[in-house]
Formats: sequence, structure tokens, C-alpha cells
Amino acid sequence: MKIITVRLAGRSYPIFVGTKILSHLAPLLREQAGWSQLVLLTDTTVAGLHLERVRTVIPGNVTLITIPAGELSKSLAQLGELFDRFAEIRLGRRDVLLTFGGGVVGDLGGFAAATWHRGIRYLQIPTTLEAAVDASIGGKTGINHAGGKNLIGAFHQPSAVLIDTDFFATLGLRDLAAGLAESIKHAALTSAAFLDWHEQHADAILARDPATLAELVARNCEIKADVVCRDEREADVRRILNYGHTIGHAIEHLLAFELRHGECVGLGMLVENEIAHRRGLLPRSEADRVRAVLARFGLPLKLPQTLDAAAVLEACRSDKKAQAGHVPFALIAGIGQPQIASEIDAADVKAALRVIDPNL
Ligand SMILES: NC(=O)c1ccc[n+]([C@@H]2O[C@H](COP(=O)([O-])OP(=O)(O)OC[C@H]3O[C@@H](n4cnc5c(N)ncnc54)[C@H](O)[C@@H]3O)[C@@H](O)[C@H]2O)c1
Ligand SMILES: [Zn+2]
Repeated sequence: MKIITVRLAGRSYPIFVGTKILSHLAPLLREQAGWSQLVLLTDTTVAGLHLERVRTVIPGNVTLITIPAGELSKSLAQLGELFDRFAEIRLGRRDVLLTFGGGVVGDLGGFAAATWHRGIRYLQIPTTLEAAVDASIGGKTGINHAGGKNLIGAFHQPSAVLIDTDFFATLGLRDLAAGLAESIKHAALTSAAFLDWHEQHADAILARDPATLAELVARNCEIKADVVCRDEREADVRRILNYGHTIGHAIEHLLAFELRHGECVGLGMLVENEIAHRRGLLPRSEADRVRAVLARFGLPLKLPQTLDAAAVLEACRSDKKAQAGHVPFALIAGIGQPQIASEIDAADVKAALRVIDPNL
């Protein structure tokens, strides 16, 4: 088992990564002093596949809350239902929430934990690769609004994250690849060697080999933890993690969640790389490297339908990171060379979108 520490003043917490490490949950819960109730939050799919394994290692009484699987659960209505249950069982301020599922369960549960009694403790047990390499780390929690993704949220760090890569055995290929897109994002931002590693280990990754996935997850946790420690609230360096996401979120929003989040991030990276190339920042060969690795894992390289460039631009401008209509972009100037561009140019976006247009 590998332990990565997210070092934050007064609120450092461990991420445990390994295979067959779920039994570690019991001692971890004993370390959280003072709780009398536990809530286990999961979704319908994860409950059907893995609930028993988790229940057997949880000591004492636990209230199970199961939400419908899927992005639509990151809603005010679902949050309201959670609070109703918390009130019903009189969940106290020293009680603990366990989020057991993908990024949806983690983001919604984390936000519920951030706001119930002005903040209770929670532990993340991610079951998707997406959540393991990205969503469960760093304390960003939230829900969606009709006006945009993750518009309502809070920073609230978990008390611990426990990642058992055996859960990934049941992930469908699309969900596995969607998580890999975030890993490829981390690699493109930080290290050519790690990007190569993905290709070298592609067969083992696609076979969901638990040890290889543990290595991959641990590396991602180190990368993300390092950035979060330097800039928890995204004033500065954490903004680089938005690489692929400005365009990616716009696509996700316009397609009404037809594609996985990670698939949209992959497409977002392709477009943003093209923007960087058009600006003379990124050599074509480096953009092609990223494309090849995305392709190796079967991630989409084209949109399912043509999107109107003006609509994409508009969606970017209503992104919550936009300031007075200005959209800061995280680009790369080469593998391992992130750069923040202060403004996005409509003509650039229009031209760059052509690289993922299905008709071109
Ligand atoms: N907070 C952050 O920093 C952050 C970072 C990245 C992504 N996110 C958010 O995470 C969400 C996407 O995460 P996701 O892809 O995990 O979505 P998800 O939680 O919807 O999971 C995807 C699907 O996989 C199913 N599933 C979960 N575990 C499984 C398993 N072990 N085997 C089989 N199926 C399983 C789920 O039921 C769901 O149907 C988005 O809402 C995104 O905004 C947040
Ligand atoms: Zn993401």
C-alpha cells in the first residue's frame, strides 16, 4: 500500500492506494474520534456491484443512502433529499460521511458534508478511475446548475481517501478510458516520461491489472496533491489543472452529458492543444503525442455531432472561471510545460474546433 499525504496547514490528510486494502477502512474510522453515526453514500450501480464488500468492513451502525447513478444526481433536488435524510437520522456535527462511488457521489457527498452543520468530516472511497485519479483529491465539491456545471460548490477537504484498485475490475471500458483521460492530462502537464508510461503499460491498464492501476493512481495522486498543496484555492498554480476543461466543460454542457466527463476532457485537450499550436506555443509533434495516447485508450478524437463554435464560445464565457467574460485558458507549451493564457480568441476557438469536428 502506498500513502500519499496532501499537506495543508492544519488539515493534512492521507490518501491510501493499493490492491485489497479495504480492510484498512475499519482502523481508519476508529481514528476519526467522536462520531456516533456513519452515513454511507453510494449510487445504485455501485451498490449493486460492491456494497457487501464495504459493509463487511464498516464497524457499527451505518445509514445507507443510495442515489441514482449518473451526473443528473449532482443536483439541488438530490442534495435536498440527502439533507432530509440527515435531518431524519439527526446526523450530528461530529458524525462522518463515507462517499462510496464515482465523482458524482464524491462531489455531491462532499458538498453535503461541506454544508451540513457548516461542515462535517467525510472520507472518500472512490470506485471509478476518474474519481481515484482526480475527483476524490483536493477538496473541490459541488453540484450542477442549469446555468453550468459545478456552479454551486465549496472547498472541503476529506479526512482521508482510500483507493482500492480492485473496484476498477467492474468498470466498463468507456469509464476506464474516461478516467485515463485525466491521467493523460496530468502527464501532459507534468512529465513526458509519465505520458510514455501510459503507452508502455497500455495492455496492463486496459486489462485492469490492479497493481498497474495502483501505480497509475498513486502517481496521479502525487501530482494532484503536489499542486493542491501549493495552491488549495486555485489562486494560481492549481489553475493548470483546468487544461482540457475550459473547452471540455463547454462540450459536456452542450451535449447535455451525452459523453463522459473524461471523454469531454480528452476532446478539450485536443482543441486546446490546437489553440496552443495556432498561437505558436505548442509544436505539432507534441500535440500529436497527446492525441496518440488518447487514441491508444480508445478515447474519442471527434465529437458525436458538429457543435456551433459560437455556442461553444458562449459556454466557455459562462464557465464559472470566466471573469467579466474573459476566459483564462490552461494550455501546454510542450509536454510538462503548462501555461496560463489570459484570453481566448473567438477565431482561434472556431478554427481549433475543426480538429474534433466529425465531418472534417
Ligand atoms: N471534484 C473534483 O475535483 C472533480 C474532478 C474531476 C471530476 N469531477 C466530477 O466527477 C464526475 C465524473 O466522475 P465519474 O466519471 O466517476 O462519474 P460517475 O460517478 O457518474 O461514475 C460513472 C459511472 O460509473 C459507475 N460506477 C462507479 N463505480 C463503478 C465500478 N467500480 N464499476 C462499475 N461501474 C461503476 C457509476 O455508477 C456511474 O454510472 C463529474 O461530475 C465531474 O465533474 C470532479
Ligand atoms: Zn476533470
